[in-house]
Amino acid sequence: MKDEEIDRPGAMKIRQGIQDAMTYSLPDKKFNPKNIDLVEVDIELDDLSWNFNNFKILNLTDIHLGQWINPEYLDELIDYVATLNVDLITLTGDYFSYVIEGYEESLENSLKKLQAPYGKVGVLGNHDHWMSSEKIRKIFKNSGIVDLSNDVITIEKNGDYLNICGVDSCTVCADNLDKVIAKMPKNIPSVLLAHEPDFAKESSQTKLFDLQISGHSHGGQFIIPKVETTPFRGPNSTKYPVGLYKVGDMIQYTSKGLGTNSFRIRINCKPEVTIITLKTNKKQKIKIE
Ligand SMILES: [Fe+2]
Repeated sequence: MKDEEIDRPGAMKIRQGIQDAMTYSLPDKKFNPKNIDLVEVDIELDDLSWNFNNFKILNLTDIHLGQWINPEYLDELIDYVATLNVDLITLTGDYFSYVIEGYEESLENSLKKLQAPYGKVGVLGNHDHWMSSEKIRKIFKNSGIVDLSNDVITIEKNGDYLNICGVDSCTVCADNLDKVIAKMPKNIPSVLLAHEPDFAKESSQTKLFDLQISGHSHGGQFIIPKVETTPFRGPNSTKYPVGLYKVGDMIQYTSKGLGTNSFRIRINCKPEVTIITLKTNKKQKIKIE
């Protein structure tokens, strides 16, 4: 789908104005790991081989660079992420909000610094299409990120395999799950990156994915204490807005993301860096003599 064919939200000029005001008028622009929720979650997958037991996936999502998160903040955040030892880095969209000019080079330079033994992969979000999917894909290419928009890579570890799949943003109707399914080797544990969490309704029905990782909701930017869910649910994040869910046989994980959208405020809903540790559910066979 071409960028010109995408439906964009109204009042873009006002949105851009709000964004500029948010970014430049607020005092606490410095990154501090204490203000980040480093969420570590273990996810058990059916038939995951022992070779992938404890495989760590670090997910970053909804950076919304230029809206509250400025280039310096992002760079410091990436330096912090580089201290976390993981196997694979995934990115699940919305790198920008309503302005892209002046921020492209900063994003590219920061993303270039991300490194993991099994590489870095990403998909696009709705804002990326509203801004320019072409420009984001160029940033991906220049910073060594494998573009998993309706695509798949298969990771090999000591003779065992894991599919890392990605679907493009369903908000702008760029998703093409059939294309992913046609490309993916079958009977291999499979993780799907999908910007919008409610895409789980569709992906889970295929019974081909064990885990879907998403963002988009920002956790509603307000989480009710003790209940640990949010009343603020936007399009495509009404069902699975924050945290872990079981959708059919599939596990859905929705991150609270890093940036904010219309309002900077986050209540009981810190920006999130997620580390998902995959666990095998295979029983270890112990030979008794
Ligand atoms: Fe989004």
